[in-house]
Amino acid sequence: MAKLRAGVLISGRGSNLQALIEAAADPAYPAEIVLVISNRAEAQGLQRAAEAGIPHEVIAEPDRTAFAAATDAALRRHRAELVALAGFMRLLDTGFVKAWRDRMINIHPSLLPSFPGLHPQHQALAAGARFSGCTVHFVRPATDSGPIIAQAVVPVHDDDDEERLAARILAQEHRLYPLALRLYAEGRLRIDGKRVIVAGSKPPEIAALNPAP
Ligand code: GRF
Repeated sequence: MAKLRAGVLISGRGSNLQALIEAAADPAYPAEIVLVISNRAEAQGLQRAAEAGIPHEVIAEPDRTAFAAATDAALRRHRAELVALAGFMRLLDTGFVKAWRDRMINIHPSLLPSFPGLHPQHQALAAGARFSGCTVHFVRPATDSGPIIAQAVVPVHDDDDEERLAARILAQEHRLYPLALRLYAEGRLRIDGKRVIVAGSKPPEIAALNPAP
């Protein structure tokens, strides 16, 4: 079967991009990365794309509408069917978000709808949350607000700082994003308002307590 053609937008390190590249290296994986776009020329993720032999472009238009038009054109040129935001740190033009509605996903390092926006790990610590994690969701115009596809949970430890919590979450991001992209590529996601119904999935029947009794 033809693989889903995904374009990935990044701004920096690109460790989630790397996780997707590694997942897509499996011949059985149902998606391929056809283009990586960065809004920053110095993004480390561009190197990762180069090493994997994936076409990559820097689009650094300062004007938001011009950025959206150039990005849209590049994605179309490479016949991308889905956009995956992976550490992409620029606000997107509403027209672009509408044009890619239900065909654009994002990963965020908190359990949305808690702690959207900047510094979610700090927000989780400051709020005294016992659990945090990461979320892959469809993109809507309001930041970090779209229907949730999948989440992973990690405990928050009493001696955590932002860096330690971020690292624990990141390890789960690298498992979660390839999973969510696979579910999308397999055509198993149906959006029903704010909810995403996943065909053929089995919810884990566990409850976690933190701290453990
Ligand atoms: C990740 O924590 C991602 O959830 C957030 O930005 C970070 C990007 O990391 N949106 P990387 O560039 O994928 O390494």
